[in-house]
Amino acid sequence: MEANTREIASDRRFGFGKNWTRFLSVLNEERIAAAEDSLKKILEAVDLEGMSFLDIGSGSGLFSLAARRLGARVHSFDYDPKSVSCAIELKKRFFPDDGDWTIEEGSALDEDYMKSLGVFDIVCSWGVLHHTGAMWQALENVSSLVSDGGKLFIAIYNDQGGWSLRWRKIKKIYNSLPSFLRMPYTAIVMGSREIKFISIALFKRQTGDYIRSWTGYGGSSRGMSRWYDMIDWVGGYPFEVAKPEDIFDFYRKRGFILERLKTSGGGIGCNEYVFRAPRNR
Ligand SMILES: C[S@@+](CC[C@H](N)C(=O)[O-])C[C@H]1O[C@@H](n2cnc3c(N)ncnc32)[C@H](O)[C@@H]1O
Repeated sequence: MEANTREIASDRRFGFGKNWTRFLSVLNEERIAAAEDSLKKILEAVDLEGMSFLDIGSGSGLFSLAARRLGARVHSFDYDPKSVSCAIELKKRFFPDDGDWTIEEGSALDEDYMKSLGVFDIVCSWGVLHHTGAMWQALENVSSLVSDGGKLFIAIYNDQGGWSLRWRKIKKIYNSLPSFLRMPYTAIVMGSREIKFISIALFKRQTGDYIRSWTGYGGSSRGMSRWYDMIDWVGGYPFEVAKPEDIFDFYRKRGFILERLKTSGGGIGCNEYVFRAPRNR
């Protein structure tokens, strides 16, 4: 067994790829279109024609697919072989025999591998670097893959102080449980939040809004599924967090300019950043 597969099978790391494999069963045209729209919006682009796009920690492969549909030449990699299989499956479904989308196994912490990739007009790593186990090293590694004047698009969990420490514990417990207890544990952890949301909706007579928060989730959340995102929130480990100002300072010191910032509004989600790399490095 490969070292990464062994690590994922242990209680030190969440099996993201397994969750993504299940997500592919609910992937449809509407979710893909939502992923495309979210990419266009955050990158302020009509399309990605003629650009190179690197998807680090490609997960389900949905962002890679969206970028390829927008016209970019795409390279996707992920640490988890099951995530890699998901991207390969998507490519088979939508772009079979396409030379402009390559997919492989690799790690954002493997400096030699990263250097071998060259540079890209857009480097995207959504919700990944805080799950590597060495977030600041990963943030450093990805920066050298952005071409001069290119864009770096990352999403990093928001630092909520004590709440973040509690989430880390919740995630650690999830990964230490036998697999048959993980689903009920997720339902218990997320159930208490859902009861709160349902109560608020009932009190405000806005049950329709609550129902839409499930049925319309993909449209507002990059084409993702609320249930599979919940599993990812409860299980996603290793887990690190950062305040927006720390990420901003980190890249400013390296000459990057912050072009867009979408915060989680102080909540449990990710803050999204688009940085522009310096033009002459
Ligand atoms: C929360 S998922 C995000 C997936 C995708 N980027 C998205 O936007 O949905 C995190 C992904 O990062 C991958 N990952 C974790 N550590 C990694 C590493 N060192 N190098 C590359 N990918 C990694 C996981 O296997 C998983 O597929």
